[in-house]
Amino acid sequence: MAEILTIDPALVERYIMTLAQHGACGETGVCRAAYTPAWVAAQQQVADWCAEAGLTVWRDAVGNQWGRLAGTEAGPVIATGSHIDSQLPGGRYDGALGIIGGIIAVRALKERYGSPRRSLDVVSFCQEEGSRLPGANLLASRAIVGTLATEEADTLRSYDGETFREVLASVGLDADRIGEAVRDDIDTFLELHIEQGPILEHERIAVGVVEAITGSRTYTVTITGRADHGGACPMDLRRDPLVAAAAIIGEVLATASSMGRPAVTTVGRLLVEPNYPAIVPERIVLTVNARHPELAGGRALFARHEATFATVAAANPQLGLTWTGTDGGEPTVCDPGTVRLLAASAHDQGVTAKIMPSGALHDCQIMAQRYKAAMLFVPSKDGRSHTPDEYTAPEELAAGIQVLAAALHRLAY
Ligand code: GLV
Ligand code: MN
Ligand code: MN
Repeated sequence: MAEILTIDPALVERYIMTLAQHGACGETGVCRAAYTPAWVAAQQQVADWCAEAGLTVWRDAVGNQWGRLAGTEAGPVIATGSHIDSQLPGGRYDGALGIIGGIIAVRALKERYGSPRRSLDVVSFCQEEGSRLPGANLLASRAIVGTLATEEADTLRSYDGETFREVLASVGLDADRIGEAVRDDIDTFLELHIEQGPILEHERIAVGVVEAITGSRTYTVTITGRADHGGACPMDLRRDPLVAAAAIIGEVLATASSMGRPAVTTVGRLLVEPNYPAIVPERIVLTVNARHPELAGGRALFARHEATFATVAAANPQLGLTWTGTDGGEPTVCDPGTVRLLAASAHDQGVTAKIMPSGALHDCQIMAQRYKAAMLFVPSKDGRSHTPDEYTAPEELAAGIQVLAAALHRLAY
């Protein structure tokens, strides 16, 4: 029987509240886009906590913050962590939990068992959400596994038009050094995260062990027409891009609904120019984010959306309609051995667990391309996430950290 580890919920709560002050917006929101001053302060806070816990700290070439509890033996390391950036606005827990949980778990192991056999790394990924740089989801982990090309520093642009190179330079990082962030010495990566959906809460289960993570593609559709007077120009003479936008939105949402679970599609961003009640719009830009955890299902969903864009374009020759698609993460199967290890760690700790998929994207799916990797979820109140209303009780957070610590113990001691 493995020893039961104790994690203090009050300590977890204190860390969550402290980190949430960096970029706090509204009463419970967090607005912490990558590489902004709030992000810099949050990464510094993480570095300070790691140092306090006795870890060696360093920042890599793209701004990932690392902390290490050195092992007594040489060899590949065991890593855990999550992302420091947020949606705009996001909540206090998305990303933050995995970093805080990693620090608290490693600290608890160090205090109870001393030095591990294998080094334990905690990582605070610089950017997962793409809330500052569209199409740059999971960029931090891509740099680590070596699939982020230096050229992307000049092609990726923020919503404000800065290149990724300029954004990196604003925090003193040099895009030409992106390649230095690559790690070839990681054996296993574990990520603790809130579920962001309702399943664990409904089923009253303490932790989810994630066996598969969804794949996604984001389309940006641009439709151009002609601005006209909203009263004087007759309907039959207008070139209104909203006609095509409305057709696309209706059709892509209906497509995902008719395919049924687990297909999902979100139109989350709609720019209408010039955006006044009495002007026929000149230009619409909208995003279509489509997700499916299986390769074949994703391909079918994406193909139907692309057919919709083509059909709507052909039906509206009076408008200009172009679209681009950017792949998010590929559908990912987590390492089966690591999934079993997480489930066994929950069992050892007397914590209820369920094997489940993830509909959200996570750095874990990129890390899984190069290392053994899997995730743990804890419940989200009312299944809410990507909103300031995100909440998980301190005791529920602590139970997830307890299982994470038990799993790190199995892997590193
Ligand atoms: C990130 O959290 C995503 O799932 O888009
Ligand atoms: Mn997240
Ligand atoms: Mn998120």
